Amino acid sequence: MDTQVSREKAVLVGVSRPPEVLKSQVQDYLSELEQLADTAGAIVLHKFIQERTQLDPAFYVGKGKVNELATFVKAKGVDVVIFDEDLSPVQVRNLERTLECKIIDRTALILQIFAVHAKSAQAKLQVELAQLEYFLPRLTRQWTHLSKQKGGIGTKGPGETQIETDRRLVWQRIATLKRKLSEFDKQHHIQTKWRENTIRIALVGYTNAGKTTLMNALCPSAHLKGENQLFATLDTTTRQLTLQRNKHALISDTVGFIRKLPHKLVESFKSTLQEVRDADILLHVVDSAHPNYEEQIQVVQHTLSELNVSSKVTITVFNKIDLLPNFFDFAAVKERYPNLVFTSAERGIGIEQLKQMLASVLDSEFQERTARVHISDYKFISLLHDKAEVLEKNYDGEYIEVRFRAPKKMLAQLDAKMRQLGLR
Ligand code: GTP
Repeated sequence: MDTQVSREKAVLVGVSRPPEVLKSQVQDYLSELEQLADTAGAIVLHKFIQERTQLDPAFYVGKGKVNELATFVKAKGVDVVIFDEDLSPVQVRNLERTLECKIIDRTALILQIFAVHAKSAQAKLQVELAQLEYFLPRLTRQWTHLSKQKGGIGTKGPGETQIETDRRLVWQRIATLKRKLSEFDKQHHIQTKWRENTIRIALVGYTNAGKTTLMNALCPSAHLKGENQLFATLDTTTRQLTLQRNKHALISDTVGFIRKLPHKLVESFKSTLQEVRDADILLHVVDSAHPNYEEQIQVVQHTLSELNVSSKVTITVFNKIDLLPNFFDFAAVKERYPNLVFTSAERGIGIEQLKQMLASVLDSEFQERTARVHISDYKFISLLHDKAEVLEKNYDGEYIEVRFRAPKKMLAQLDAKMRQLGLR
């Protein structure tokens, strides 16, 4: 079957504003936007870049560019024009009237991809919430005109009927979604309580950096599907990771980040991103073969600070080294990132070094203790076996001297128990 036939025809529009935003940067942004459009199922016919000092409040681009776009759209039968920045409701309405096709901005496109990729009930609710919050200020009469258009990008929204209902109903739906999502939060809290004594690692990174592929390489039994698509993973997957010396940790793969990730989306994905908040160690996966890898690192760091987790212990993983023409160009990078490992998750290169680095970081997260326990305190001894790693037991009459190691976060709990039993 020829899938090209059913694909929507799109053009992309970006604006450069030198000296802040250079044309070369906008070219890179539009390449990323093309990947997003492709993931959403559109075929990009052309990319338009305009240089302006100020954005036009009515049309975003200048009148001349609007005319040029209108001619192109008509001649090529373009279905959708996608702008790399967020448009105001007025700009969308004006552009729609003049160009007589669908107008989508970057946020709407990202929301569309999330809507298509959301699989679990929780992810679907999160996306719906973000969509409603995004569409709410745009719920004016122009939607009746939009909703009559055919399907495709931007139409897998909260639903035609809802767009036409009044704002009050949308607010009610938002409240319901928030309530349902807080139920998920409670369940998450209960489900993850048992993991309290286990070190938790979260994979973070720019979308398509190779997080899922790396998770598969680290945990061969994971068998998750890595895809050359943006935002292939929206739901969190957690697996047990076994490192050397009998050390275990839980590792989670979660949603990727992107430049200008809509703020509402980050907020609605709070529950999914809880794994990142709960993690003891972050594995920041970088696509080192990407021409803009440095900017991508900054985007990830910025998103992590939005989530208030930038102070967590982080290992930086420069992935896809098999695609680098000259690996040694990265010598200088080593100085900037204290815990740095180079990998090719696809080819299995550097995975052992990464495991070693994880094991040594984990070591610093654990502390050793010795407790002299009376044999009648068998409950405490079994608690130690349960919550800590017992390294040595020496019997001395009615006492047992136990040397154990536990994650720092667990020690406070064990210390309190030891004080209660008069063991320290
Ligand atoms: P999102 O779910 O979009 O956040 O992506 P992700 O970070 O989980 O990336 P994923 O593992 O899905 O990989 C994205 C693409 O990069 C896939 O086509 C992988 O096959 C490819 N890839 C991952 N690691 C490597 C690598 O080390 N080398 C090469 N050449 N390709 C890789």
